[in-house]
Amino acid sequence: MNHDKIERNAVLLVVLTLITVSIGGLVEIVPLYTVKSTIERVEGVRPYSPLELTGRNIYIREGCYVCHSQMIRAFRDEVERYGHFSLAAESIYDHPFQWGSKRTGPDLARVGGKFSNEWHVAHMVDPRSVVPESIMPGYGFMLNKAVRRDDIAAHLRANRAIGVPYSDEMIEAAAADLATQADPFGDHDSLLGRYPKAAVGDFDGQPDQLTEMDAVIAYMQILGRMVDFTDVEPEQLVQ
Ligand code: HEC
Repeated sequence: MNHDKIERNAVLLVVLTLITVSIGGLVEIVPLYTVKSTIERVEGVRPYSPLELTGRNIYIREGCYVCHSQMIRAFRDEVERYGHFSLAAESIYDHPFQWGSKRTGPDLARVGGKFSNEWHVAHMVDPRSVVPESIMPGYGFMLNKAVRRDDIAAHLRANRAIGVPYSDEMIEAAAADLATQADPFGDHDSLLGRYPKAAVGDFDGQPDQLTEMDAVIAYMQILGRMVDFTDVEPEQLVQ
């Protein structure tokens, strides 16, 4: 029997295994060279506004990702709880991505618009004041920490260097946009022209201050809202 020969000859077995595996590998890998990107672009996904980007940096600094994922899986229970499963394109401008691997708290991929700014402030200051059984730590100090404004243009430029399409106009307006987004009387039209759907106005209940709380809540409020899923039928959600 041929099999017998192969199984008794270690070298032959290794060689034939390698050949078989390489054929499988080639079939999977070669076609990828003919496509420009393996990520399907989706309408609505845009770079983060300066304030959202700042909030994202704070989210990473504080290790929120240790307890929160940002990736809804394509399972019925996930979709029923959190909404449409996450698309790769939704995190195309995330460097690094925040998919996470542990859920001590709920997934945050679509938390934008789920709660009011006031709720977020109360929850961030003392999670137990709104969710009595919560084990999330409080982050009240963010109410007293001013957002750093001098390096925001550099943050945008760093993101552009790795492929996020920030325009010269966006970089030039970065410092102003940072403040405008959280200013209840700011010129929101031009900001929204650059960053559609951004949540605007005072976030932290202190309209005359630009704090880390403003930034984190602005970031929470955009999560999952860039792509419009309203015309997707619920049955199409679960495959
Ligand atoms: C030690 C784990 C832990 C850390 C760290 C943590 N959280 Fe949470 N978070 C939780 C838990 C548990 C819940 C669910 C109970 C609740 O709502 O407080 C939660 C809930 C939330 C919710 C409400 C989500 C929903 O849909 O109900 C938001 C928003 C949130 N966290 C944001 C953050 C942010 C922002 C940070 C970082 C600054 C953070 N969390 C850090 C554990 C954590």
